Order: sequence, then structure tokens, then C-alpha cells
Amino acid sequence: MNQKERIEQLFETGILPRKEMRALIEERDEESSEELFAKARIRKKENFGKDIYLRGLIEFSSYCRNDCFYCGLRRSNTKAQRYHLSKEDILTCARQGYALGFRTIVLQSGEDLSYSDEEIADIVRSIKKEMPETAVTLSIGEKTYEQYLLYYKAGADRYLLRHETADPVHYAKLHPSDLSFENRKRCLYDLKKIGYQVGAGMMVEAPFQTLDNLVEDLFFLKELQPHMIGMGPFIAHKDTPFKDMPSGGSELTIFLLGILRLMFPKVLLPATTALGTIDPYGREKGIMAGANVIMPNLSPKSVRGKYMLYDGKISTGEEAAESIEKIRKRMEAIGCHVKNVRGDAPGMGPENRQ
Ligand code: 5AD
Repeated sequence: MNQKERIEQLFETGILPRKEMRALIEERDEESSEELFAKARIRKKENFGKDIYLRGLIEFSSYCRNDCFYCGLRRSNTKAQRYHLSKEDILTCARQGYALGFRTIVLQSGEDLSYSDEEIADIVRSIKKEMPETAVTLSIGEKTYEQYLLYYKAGADRYLLRHETADPVHYAKLHPSDLSFENRKRCLYDLKKIGYQVGAGMMVEAPFQTLDNLVEDLFFLKELQPHMIGMGPFIAHKDTPFKDMPSGGSELTIFLLGILRLMFPKVLLPATTALGTIDPYGREKGIMAGANVIMPNLSPKSVRGKYMLYDGKISTGEEAAESIEKIRKRMEAIGCHVKNVRGDAPGMGPENRQ
């Protein structure tokens, strides 16, 4: 098959044989990228029109019990600035987000064990009670089935937990031995079973990542059928074991966004902060390749510089939630329209909760 045929088949059927998927990525060039993105925009338009959904991201704690080799929040990083927000601080952020038009709040943190499950549930419950038309997404790491169920019963709608890489051997090169792909997978399937809208995803151009790893990621996602896929380039952080590893660029990530849109026409696909960090127009390019979600930062300004997953992470300027008008304008400039709605995965709205 040539590139045109591969893209056509992917467009028509949503899948390619592994070998052809690999070749599609390997042989990408400007022409095939444009072809892919044009098809991705067709699929996006069919399912979402011009709409772009916003998520207000509250990074409520930078403490983490884990020691992932790539992440600036890893527990061995003694230089990391640690903070955690109180329930009141979190609610204040959520209210500000609501006033700005956000109808999804994402509560993200390192795996900070100082919040009890009841406290997390209470924060979720309070947001839902005060702002019932707001969806709450949690992104707080690996937990047990019972914990996930408790948060769901408190009203959480969605959960983000990137699988990071679907190859257990590669997984072990990115994480210490107490973390495993097996448990990651268990978490993702538990979340689906409970009824969450689930987000998985991987870093692109992570250390030791091969093209076959990426193909494996795509096929893992096909099996999992997540509602959301968060994918951005790896960016080195100076106080981690991967400090001298090369960071990814935007080009491969954007190509993969196009592939994901054809594989998953209805998936919620953010143009991520990492993509906006590595490329000033990364967000726009991601949207033009099939992404349909943007996640501006709603954390209090005083802590934004402290949630440093990687070097240079953008958190002010047009990235920030208070610059929402600029974000709206930038989206209008590329023919899209930011909508103040929850933006659920199709068929997964509040009326479908179990
Ligand atoms: N570069 C890019 N992304 C990173 N993440 C963590 N560290 C880095 C890094 N150095 C991503 C992981 C995690 C998400 C919250 O941030 O994929 O799941």
C-alpha cells in the first residue's frame, strides 16, 4: 500500500494492519500529513461540527508518592516545590472557572496520600452541588476499584489516567519497579466498568520509545476504547534521571493526533499543554489535525509555576484560563468555536450515568 491508500483505508474502516500502520507513521511526509489531517477534519466535523470543548484544569497538589523517571513531580526530586490546596481553595478556583464559562473541571494532582478518599469525595460532591451542570474529571492516579467507585458515587464523571506506554518492557524503562503496566491496565478497565468516561494516552518520543511501541499504543487504545485520549510530546525535566534525554517535537505528535481521530471518530482529543509548550502554534496545529479539546490552567497563580511536570511548562499568557477570550479568538481564527458546555463523550452524558 502507498500512503494515500493507507489513509483511505484508515478513513473508511478506522483501522489498518499493524504493518501498514507502522509504515504510515514511518513514511509520513508533508503531503501525506496534509492528506491525513484533511480526512481527520472530516471525521471531526461529522461528530463535533466546529465545536471545541474547554476543560478547566486545577492542579491541586504537587506532592507525589511515585518516582516516575520522566516526571518533575517525582518524589526523589528534592528541588520540586510542593504545595497542596485546601478544599476551599479548590472550590474558589472552580467558581472562577464557572464564571469564565467552563463546564468541566479537571482535578489533577500527583499521588498525594494526604487527602483521604472521603476528602476527595467531599470536594467532588461540593463542586457538583454548587455547580450541578459542571462535569468533574479526576486525574489523581492509580487507586483500587473501591476507591474509584467511591469517587464515582460522589459524582465524578470522568477519569484521566494515561497508560503512558502499552509495552511492559518499555513501561519498566520509564518507571520504578513498584509500578507496572499490568496495574495501570487494571485501573483503566476498572474505571470503564464503573461507568466513568475514561481517558488514556501516551507520551510521544519518550525515552527508549520505538515506532513499534507507538503502534502497540494505538492497538492497545483500540482494545480499551477510551472516551478521551491525552497525548503530548515528552519534554525533559532538568531534575529527573531523563534530564539529558532529547525532548519530542510537535510534528510526530500532530501526525498521531490525525491517526487517532480516524481510529476514534468520536473520541475527545485534547491539543495538550505539552504540545503548546514545545510549539507556540502546537495547539492550533493539533486542532487542525483532529483534536477538539483544550485544557486551560485554572490553578491559583501562586502555585502554577510549581506544578512542573517538565521544563518550560506554559501556565501563564494565553495558556491561562483568565486569557479565555484570547483562546476563543485563536480558535475562531482557525474556523472553530469554543462552546461553554460539558462536552461529554457522545452517548455518555449525565442522563446515562449508572
Ligand atoms: N514530558 C511530557 N509529559 C509528561 N508527563 C509527565 N512528565 C512528563 C514529561 N517530562 C505527562 C504524563 C502524565 C501527565 C499528567 O503528564 O503522561 O500522565
